[in-house]
Amino acid sequence: MLRAFVSHHPVIAHKLTRLRDQDTETDDFRSLVRDLALLLAVEATADLQSRADTVRTPLDECAGTAIAESIALVPILRAGLGMAEGLAGLLPDATVRHLGFYRDEAKLSPVPYYNKLPQGQAEDLCLILDPMLATGGSALAAITAVKAWGPRRIKFLGILGAPEGVAAVHQAHPDVALHLCGIDQHLDARGFIVPGLGDAGDRLFRTT
Ligand code: PRP
Repeated sequence: MLRAFVSHHPVIAHKLTRLRDQDTETDDFRSLVRDLALLLAVEATADLQSRADTVRTPLDECAGTAIAESIALVPILRAGLGMAEGLAGLLPDATVRHLGFYRDEAKLSPVPYYNKLPQGQAEDLCLILDPMLATGGSALAAITAVKAWGPRRIKFLGILGAPEGVAAVHQAHPDVALHLCGIDQHLDARGFIVPGLGDAGDRLFRTT
């Protein structure tokens, strides 16, 4: 059974459709990735712990709340950067800790090349960001690295998943919640999500 939170919000569905379009140009593609990441994060952070806080309005003192958990955004390079930009406005106090993996195109396995996770105390909640969950190899490697670092809670936010990747992550890490805008049909022989949206990193950075 596939276990992931897939948003059915009509704005997400609309923007995902535009993102898939092969005629969507770079500027729009970037802005859609930012918007989708933000919308997804609103849903994924609905269970954030908060504490009582008070604020003085122009008229009176008012009871309110403040977020009580520290948050780390962990974008997987490169394509996760586009999502991290979208979350910067929503969660301005979050730290950003980058992880770099590229997929070996023959073996489809992740090759690590950058790790900015610090030694010592981890944030309470870690949001791993990568638009594409294909075989799940990159997500699994990222989750392993983040778990070694030690946040209390980990969530993976992606735009599109393949059933293979969703199953692999859920099987290895059932404690890590997956939040996606959609789950597509299958992976092709090159490990691309079908019908998908192409290569998110290339479309974000105008590379081929
Ligand atoms: C893509 C994508 C994910 C990974 C997904 O990155 O952005 O990181 O592949 O595939 P997986 O689930 O099979 O691991 P890519 O290797 O193309 O690097 P890039 O983001 O630098 O383009």
